[in-house]
Amino acid sequence: MKLSVTNDRIEQVKTGLLVIPFIKGGVNRAFDFTDRRSRGSLRAQVAQESFKGEEGRLLVWQGSLRGGGAVRVVLVGMGKGSPDAATWKTNMARTINVAIRHREKAMTVFVDSVDSDRKCLEASWTTEALMLGAYRFDRRKTQKITDRPPRIGRVGVYPPQEWAKEVRGAIKDARVRAEAVLLCRDLVNEPANILYPERFADIAVEIADAQGLDCKVMNKKAIQKAGMNLLMAVAQGSSRDPRFIHLIYKPSKDPVRKIALIGKGVTFDSGGLCIKPGKSMANMKTDMAGAGVVLAVMSSLSKMGFGVEVHGIIPLAENSINGQAARPGDVIESLSGLSVEIINTDAEGRLLLADALSYASDLEPDEIIDLATLTGSCPTALGALRAGLFASEDQMADRFIAAADGAGELVWRLPLAGELKKDLRSDVADIKNLGGRWGGAITAALFLRRFVKDRAWMHLDIAGPARTESTTPLCRCGGTGFGVATCLEYLSRI
Ligand code: BES
Ligand code: MN
Ligand code: ZN
Repeated sequence: MKLSVTNDRIEQVKTGLLVIPFIKGGVNRAFDFTDRRSRGSLRAQVAQESFKGEEGRLLVWQGSLRGGGAVRVVLVGMGKGSPDAATWKTNMARTINVAIRHREKAMTVFVDSVDSDRKCLEASWTTEALMLGAYRFDRRKTQKITDRPPRIGRVGVYPPQEWAKEVRGAIKDARVRAEAVLLCRDLVNEPANILYPERFADIAVEIADAQGLDCKVMNKKAIQKAGMNLLMAVAQGSSRDPRFIHLIYKPSKDPVRKIALIGKGVTFDSGGLCIKPGKSMANMKTDMAGAGVVLAVMSSLSKMGFGVEVHGIIPLAENSINGQAARPGDVIESLSGLSVEIINTDAEGRLLLADALSYASDLEPDEIIDLATLTGSCPTALGALRAGLFASEDQMADRFIAAADGAGELVWRLPLAGELKKDLRSDVADIKNLGGRWGGAITAALFLRRFVKDRAWMHLDIAGPARTESTTPLCRCGGTGFGVATCLEYLSRI
């Protein structure tokens, strides 16, 4: 959906579909105004359906508005009070289904907040909701698709006042954020025969060129030479060569902070010799979702004009099997020097992340944040919609959780439980890549921590929310882009 700000006033707007949010028991001026244009017919239907603006309810009115001709008006129930990001976005995105049902080509939403602090928020949430809700991954379909959402979306404000300029700025930023989420979804949804490490790196180079980022890509030889033996151990069983990407965003002014973002980039996870059963392997093209988040975030930094220096670090490999594949029992010397015993070749994410974490530590950033579809244990503990957060610093975790709330994404902090450290002791090496029976998400995080050299560090396990099997108003079945919005919010608050 192409989204723009409309200059129209609500009293003149001519549109196929006019969308108005409706707060239960609140002041709904855009509704009142439009009702007058409908000569009371809109309010009559509201009464007839006893629509009160209950969350999740939509009211669709059809008729003609004074000066606007025949239109459909959709009232979006937002519930009582001041809806939060998640509530607003989900309910706003429901209107896409109405647009599809009526084959509308364009839709216009008027945001009408009595609370001036919320005007920009509501305008940006609306923008994101429409763009995310309209997203389809159909580039690999060859047959004609009939149920397309509208190509054109417009957001307006009511009443039009001097803050229209601020709202415009907010909508512009929201569009950048939504585009980043959609880029991540595209990357996750792309099948692994098409998106493999080399191809991912090519895309990163294109983006870096377009956005004026520094970009270094290491190929297999360079990775070997650098001593990233854990990354090599994951990649060596595949005919697809690994890549290691380092992107740099530098603000125009002196940076306030330096942050390293790392994303797990396993373009397909078969499990390696410890092969996954078919059912668990089915969606393992998603195993590069962390890498997708990092590339998507990097792609929007110059557009947002952030004041932080950000290093995007992406280790990429396919975890597959051939005669060269790493075996359980192999001992590998990591980039950091620590030796690692591979107990299970399916615990590969922590291996390539370990080398990336040592590489990032050497850049001496103020903070390191990694995102990874790391363990099935994480969604087992938290449910599939929520990410697990591990942090070396309480204050950093609090800021990240606040950013996630602002972005409407679900995270929950889990402990770096000291009592499980012994589960990673190896008989032959410094550490092994598998913990005990319990606390799999925690032992994976404890493993990662060993490779962070004296830096503030956070790890987000997105194995659950990186993809969804059920279609919701904001996201069809497939990649969700989870993590992009929170990271951008987090960086904007530094
Ligand atoms: N990529 C998987 C984790 C995963 C599982 C992501 C389900 C998304 C959905 C990871 O590499 C993996 O295989 N983890 C194993 C770890 C185990 C071998 C210690 C797991 O979670 O089963
Ligand atoms: Mn695995
Ligand atoms: Zn994996």
